[in-house]
Amino acid sequence: MLTISPSILACDFSRLKDEVSAVYDAGAQWLHIDVMDGHFVPNITLGPDIVKSIRDKTKAFFDVHLMISDPLFYIDAFAKAGAELITFHVETQSDIKKTIEKIKGHNIKAALSIKPNTPVSALKDYINDIDMVLVMTVEPGFGGQSFMADMIPKIREIKEMKSDMLIEVDGGISAENAKLVYDAGARVLVAGSAIFNKADYKKAIDDIKGACKA
Ligand code: DX5
Ligand code: ZN
Repeated sequence: MLTISPSILACDFSRLKDEVSAVYDAGAQWLHIDVMDGHFVPNITLGPDIVKSIRDKTKAFFDVHLMISDPLFYIDAFAKAGAELITFHVETQSDIKKTIEKIKGHNIKAALSIKPNTPVSALKDYINDIDMVLVMTVEPGFGGQSFMADMIPKIREIKEMKSDMLIEVDGGISAENAKLVYDAGARVLVAGSAIFNKADYKKAIDDIKGACKA
């Protein structure tokens, strides 16, 4: 299995509805929605009302990445808005076990993410309670940054901790480095600028998929 999850952070927000349906039609089954609060990261993006507004514009699986200081407080709102998977950060202030329980209480998937400076060992108390791990391959906050190849060993380490864990990677992913993360064990690849900055979304998605299988 290989899933491409286009990050709408790189889309043309003035045409959000069209962008969201275009990447689904171009072959991406997931949609990566980056939520930033200006506290956990130095950037502000969007909230549950925007998620809700695009929920019926696509059949894509809503992969919501919360980069916010208190995810526990906002789980209900994002779940009601249509999130099907909520990822939050192990570095947040919320109680991690309670936040996972809250997400699962909505019958949706729960994932934890680690920033570049956070070791895989930070996941060990939660690894059996979550559906996915998101390995950040850039410092969270902005799209269009360079891929950090030194994060690749973390993918293997997570596989050693739990061999069947689904792993997503996020940050600077393109057709040039997709095979590196795929071979290490990542099966969900987030890509923002590598898709939305291209004229042909289908070609951009096919190029990333093709690189993994090469
Ligand atoms: C960064 C976000 C990413 C970002 C990826 O904090 O979590 O999802 O939008 O964008 P690219 O693929 O351009 O690095
Ligand atoms: Zn993200």
